Amino acid sequence: MESSSSAAAAVDGEDGGGSKRSWYAVGERAVLVPYLREHVPRYHGWMQDPALLEATASEPLSLDQEFEVHRSWTLDPLKHTFIVLDKDLIEGGFAVGDPHTEAMVGDVNIYMNDPDDLQLAEIEIMIAEHKSTFCYSRGKGLGQEAILIMMAFAVEKYGIHTFRAKINESNTASLKLFRKLGFKDASYSSVFKEVTLEAPATALPLVSPLTIRNW
Ligand SMILES: CC(C)(COP(=O)(O)OP(=O)(O)OC[C@H]1O[C@@H](n2cnc3c(N)ncnc32)[C@H](O)[C@@H]1OP(=O)(O)O)[C@@H](O)C(=O)NCCC(=O)NCCS
Repeated sequence: MESSSSAAAAVDGEDGGGSKRSWYAVGERAVLVPYLREHVPRYHGWMQDPALLEATASEPLSLDQEFEVHRSWTLDPLKHTFIVLDKDLIEGGFAVGDPHTEAMVGDVNIYMNDPDDLQLAEIEIMIAEHKSTFCYSRGKGLGQEAILIMMAFAVEKYGIHTFRAKINESNTASLKLFRKLGFKDASYSSVFKEVTLEAPATALPLVSPLTIRNW
């Protein structure tokens, strides 16, 4: 099957060449870099915020558990995660290989979790930095750009043809963002109070040309 082989081709090791650690993507406002161990402590700090836990349907973890999740995500051929860097916060210019933890503001990931269709990807976005004194990264277009870069990347590297997002009905910012991009409501779960939205890749304003380079 093309889907599983392209997913497997995209991941051939945790650190090796050709693995999912080896790409980064550049946009106008954001740079998407691999989720590295160096990013985990700050990521873990974000995930202490009850509002972010609720918005991302996540459970609070210890730092050790966060490192373990990072490791499993890195090894999972059906997942791909990028850390979103805010270009305005990068100190000394962007350097390949530098995790630039000073500029990390969120993450974007895809998960090919439909066993009947591995070319369908669930997508999640989080722009976490929004209330520190020095860093207000929400409302600058970073979330939108990160999603559009990630989807173009997913089409190119994983052959994804359809994207899905599951969003709590009270998360108006995220619902508005995905609907603005062309996602349509596909179903609603009254149990989870969650809207499922979907869009074929061909209906989305994907970033083109996409600047993906080796990390
Ligand atoms: C949802 C989220 C990713 C938006 O990120 P962001 O970088 O602030 O969003 P952008 O600046 O790129 O905004 C893009 C569009 O999103 C919508 N949007 C973003 N923030 C909004 C808000 N507070 N209220 C209403 N709409 C909003 C708007 O349509 C906006 O387009 P516009 O400026 O032309 O109106 C961010 O608020 C977040 O991470 N929230 C917590 C985690 C979460 O809910 N993740 C979604 C689960 S998949």
